[in-house]
Amino acid sequence: MTEIARVGVCGAGLMGSGIAQTAATAGFEVVLMEVDAAALQRGTASMAAALDKAVAKQRMTQTERDAVLGRIAATTDVKDLKNCDIVIEAIVENVAIKTALFKQLDDLLAAHAVICTNTSSLCVIELAAATKRPDRVAGLHFFNPVPVMKLVEVVRTIATTPETIDRLFAFAQKLGKEPIHAKDTPGFVVNRLLVPYLLYAIRVYEDGLASKEDIDKGMKLGCGYPMGPFELLDFVGLDTTYFIAQIMFDEFKDPMMAPPTLLKRMVLAGRYGRKNGKGFYDYA
Ligand code: 3HC
Repeated sequence: MTEIARVGVCGAGLMGSGIAQTAATAGFEVVLMEVDAAALQRGTASMAAALDKAVAKQRMTQTERDAVLGRIAATTDVKDLKNCDIVIEAIVENVAIKTALFKQLDDLLAAHAVICTNTSSLCVIELAAATKRPDRVAGLHFFNPVPVMKLVEVVRTIATTPETIDRLFAFAQKLGKEPIHAKDTPGFVVNRLLVPYLLYAIRVYEDGLASKEDIDKGMKLGCGYPMGPFELLDFVGLDTTYFIAQIMFDEFKDPMMAPPTLLKRMVLAGRYGRKNGKGFYDYA
């Protein structure tokens, strides 16, 4: 079994930059690839800012912070991923764009390399089928904020081999994460349970059960959740939740997964949550 030493990450958004930062902090050499130079710059700046905070809180020395950033090579050229033992894709949730990238990676990478997707809801096997190595393709699903959340879902398709899953479990543990097994079905384990809960919170709010503030307070103080459902919806993104819910409803035809009327209208109004300043709450 070839050791994973060099990690590639595609996409420098919230998830991609979080994964790159986590891998570099764990001591891996990282290549962070993003086609959009401005997005790459934003991702690099957000990793630096997160590490600066860790230094300010004396959780890391300045030398360690510099070493972590020094292990991340940022690039806009996919060919720079060539020597990676694993590549984790965290780009836009669009099957056609992801499939094209998987084909490119398959042609570029060494035979032993594993290709993973951080998709939260798309079919992993559809991406694997675009490659000549479906046995070495899996889902590796991280949670936001990646450097903080301990869980990683290791998603096996009907083609992923047990050896690949073993390698990914060992890799996730080296990242300091706790891996769990999940099947290649929309939402995997966590979103399969979390998304219906978030959608139901919107439904009871629509029904006038309580104010969103009181629903949030109830779930935080009554259940010990770090965020209430509306705070979490804004944190995850209403557009993202809507997208996942649509895919889950399409697959399972379970009414619990159907996007509520209000969610659709908020997305149509461009209220995506924290990412653009307005969701259920105002961040301006
Ligand atoms: N990057 C790095 N570190 C971060 C961070 C970030 N974006 N955000 C917070 N942190 C760190 C802080 O620096 C702090 O570190 P410290 O303990 O060393 O001081 C620690 O996390 C706690 O942060 P804060 O004190 O600022 O704030 P909170 O105590 O309120 O915690 C939170 C913030 C960790 C986001 C907490 O509110 C939480 O756990 N919320 C729930 C998050 C959640 O459910 N995520 C999963 C979403 S679902 C998903 O991702 C799946 C996808 O497919 C949709």
